[in-house]
Amino acid sequence: MSTAEKTFSKGLEGVIAAQTEMSFINGTEGILEYVGIAIGDLASKSSFEETVFLLWNKRLPTKPELEQFTADLRSHYTLCDEMVTQIKSCPIKAEPMHVIRSMISMCAMYDENPNENSVEAARHKSMRILAVAPAIVAAFDRHRRGLEIVKADPSLNFASNFLYMLNGEKPTDAMVRAFDICMITHADHGLNNSTFAARVVISTLSDLYSAMTAAIGSLRGPLHGGANEGVMKMLNKIDSVETAEAHVMGMIKNKERIMGFGHRVYKAKDPRASELMTLAKQLAEDTGNMDLYNKSHAIEKIMEREYASKGIYPNVDFYSATTYHCIGLKLDLFTPMFVLARIAGWAGHVIEQLEDNRLFRPTTDYIGPHNAPYTPIEKR
Ligand code: SDX
Repeated sequence: MSTAEKTFSKGLEGVIAAQTEMSFINGTEGILEYVGIAIGDLASKSSFEETVFLLWNKRLPTKPELEQFTADLRSHYTLCDEMVTQIKSCPIKAEPMHVIRSMISMCAMYDENPNENSVEAARHKSMRILAVAPAIVAAFDRHRRGLEIVKADPSLNFASNFLYMLNGEKPTDAMVRAFDICMITHADHGLNNSTFAARVVISTLSDLYSAMTAAIGSLRGPLHGGANEGVMKMLNKIDSVETAEAHVMGMIKNKERIMGFGHRVYKAKDPRASELMTLAKQLAEDTGNMDLYNKSHAIEKIMEREYASKGIYPNVDFYSATTYHCIGLKLDLFTPMFVLARIAGWAGHVIEQLEDNRLFRPTTDYIGPHNAPYTPIEKR
């Protein structure tokens, strides 16, 4: 390719770097579909397990297929004793995102064939990682609180099992459904930074654990999945709906980024934000957190007035913060929740990459000197 044909797009903005059959995003109209099905339909009618089957198989399952898929997932819920020991050796002050990234990487050591990266092997490993990730997060949180680790319950679905392992008691149906909707809406989203990271790593025919570890490292960033924690920190700093205006205008004046707003692709409201706004309001009413929801809604109105003209709207992270808080999750568990869901998307993209792989190796526009002399150190 000649230099003239090479074009530089900072941050690869607008560059098509892969093809996928999983999620379709229309950023102008605020549309998100998983294999053609609108995210609103999946959030209201599907389950996380069914959504994962859809993403990995490019179609909805029959009833027997869903039962088999669910049984496979549940058969891998339980952490091996060695992993439990490893989790108990983590410093209790460690950040949960560092723990989940480290432990998913450590899963490779307890896999008899960690480097096998056939599509079939990737599917099996993905199922195991998806199944055990909730147990890792729940076990570490109970460890750091000085509580007994709660074993997974294979009679429970993904959402219910996680909340049970975390809290040591069976969750309400409303909380299970809310968490399930969070998992569905966070499962996949085109070639976002963490998904791209997973594809880049697996494209060298490295192993799935390395790809997942890279993805988790990317997602922690506040410009990406870490934004949901930033949203909560902002809400906690705002005393009331009445002071929201002054607080947000102060941030804008200081040219601060308002977490939970803006998106590289969406120039309309993120459809996931709409789904999660509805869920957040219902949960806030049920749990006595309407002040939190009302502050969020006030911020959305202020940002609409100040930034809608620049195409800056709420993204998935804005109302997920209120939702996770109402479910009873601690702030530093918000981004790990994003991990639990996005393992589905990362795995789907890794499988797609393996099915039609080509090593990722972009180029640079070299803007440095040429033919420079080597000056001996005594003359520098
Ligand atoms: C996720 O890619 C995905 O799909 C990601 C995700 C997924 O599901 O995987 O959707 C999940 O990561 C959602 C995004 C979560 N991040 C945040 O909420 C952090 C806050 N948002 C931003 O930092 C920003 O909007 C990004 C990073 C999300 C997108 O930024 P871009 O596309 O790189 O845009 P930019 O930084 O070049 O900003 C363009 C302009 C700038 O103003 P100017 O310098 O041109 O005057 O918009 C402004 C920015 O300052 N801007 C904001 C803003 N976001 C953009 N100003 C204030 N607050 C914001 N949130």
